[in-house]
Amino acid sequence: MSKRYHVTTFGCQMNEHDSERMKGMLESLGYTASERREDADLILFNTCSIREKADERFVAHLHDAKIVKRNNPGTVIGVGGCWAQSMKDLVFEQFPFVDVAFGPGQVPKLAEFLTSDSITAQGYFEFEGFPAHLPTKRDRPHQAWLQISVGCHMKCSYCIVPSTRGRHVSRPYDEIVEEARRLASEGVVEITLLGQNVNAYGRDLRPQRREFSELLREVGSIPGMKRVRYTSPHPQDIKQDVVDVHAELDTICEHVHLPLQAGSSKILKAMRRTYDRERFIDRVAMIRAGIPDVALSTDIIVGFPGETEEDFQETLEVCELVQFDSAFTFIFSPRRHTEAAEFTEGLVPHDVKVERMQRLVEVIQRNAHERAQRFVGRTMEVLIEGPSRTDPSRLRGRTSHNKAVNFEGFGEPGTFTHVGITGATSQTLTGNQSLVDLALAR
Ligand code: 5AD
Ligand code: SF4
Repeated sequence: MSKRYHVTTFGCQMNEHDSERMKGMLESLGYTASERREDADLILFNTCSIREKADERFVAHLHDAKIVKRNNPGTVIGVGGCWAQSMKDLVFEQFPFVDVAFGPGQVPKLAEFLTSDSITAQGYFEFEGFPAHLPTKRDRPHQAWLQISVGCHMKCSYCIVPSTRGRHVSRPYDEIVEEARRLASEGVVEITLLGQNVNAYGRDLRPQRREFSELLREVGSIPGMKRVRYTSPHPQDIKQDVVDVHAELDTICEHVHLPLQAGSSKILKAMRRTYDRERFIDRVAMIRAGIPDVALSTDIIVGFPGETEEDFQETLEVCELVQFDSAFTFIFSPRRHTEAAEFTEGLVPHDVKVERMQRLVEVIQRNAHERAQRFVGRTMEVLIEGPSRTDPSRLRGRTSHNKAVNFEGFGEPGTFTHVGITGATSQTLTGNQSLVDLALAR
């Protein structure tokens, strides 16, 4: 019988993408997927370390795996991703039952380990360049991630990523375009370009420097590629050229994720975000001028060291002013190897952090709810993803604005349809399939 694997993924889309590559690689080695961790010969974790909670959650899972291995001593336990990278060889000291550990993106190293005769624990933590084509097992056959760079050249004082994912390196331009073409020929209709700071793309390429906007235009012009997304741009670097590509091509989704982090220029400076409140507001104005119906989402941290009530008020003000369509909100959590973890002044007590978070979420939800009302009464193009999570008799899909839509109708995952929007909450839209599409689908 073939060997079986079980993968658990934590963290961001970059990790989701790496996990798809791990699964693809494992299947090419003859492994098959196991529903349950207990039945797997290989238990893999793709880890995140962005906040303390992520670490805690993962360590609890790792202990479960240890118990499985106690019952089945032949089980191989592998730990990849950011947590592994930030721990390096300490992984083996603290968790001696781990067999292989590897940093983000090091999928080929995992293959090397599995195909070698090595029985001793191995760690792989050096980035050695982009692997040539790796097989990928996509969760959704019609949607794909496409990594355009590794690492990050920014120095945000709270962030562990530069230490786990290393310095910024752009992937060769032609290689990305070729992969996008191949994906389109395989039936992928939606692609998300991934990088820690996509606007930094191409500046390190030699002999020919490239711009992110060039890549976006080229990928967005590939026949068959219906939707292109990207994440994340940085408010310092997003420029008119990118907005122009949105305006030029229908394929570029009307959604921009622009992480604010804080609304106070003082806090932004302490975070080393390299923009201030005015610059952020100015970027939003530029984006909205070029893409009037754009949905804007963001990330915000509350309780950064030194954040006073006035500073926090400024965050609320920027949110009221910008009116984000959605936001991820986080409580500041000190991370190892980061500058902000060493800050000792103005530390915000936990209960104050929690209270600010609640007030922020209220503002975010109210604005998101109001913004979403603009869709009611409109007919929107929706990419069908499958049955609705809450009511399997309905379908779920997504608009170009990245809004989830639950609707009554028919259609296969991966196809487009039109939905008349009848209701909108801060999170989701509801509606009915257009009569013409309904007749065609039936
Ligand atoms: N504490 C809290 N939130 C953080 N983020 C990154 N590092 C931290 C931290 N130390 C948030 C940022 C980032 C998102 C992915 O996670 O908002 O944009
Ligand atoms: Fe992604 Fe950051 Fe978590 Fe690494 S630490 S998985 S880059 S979110």
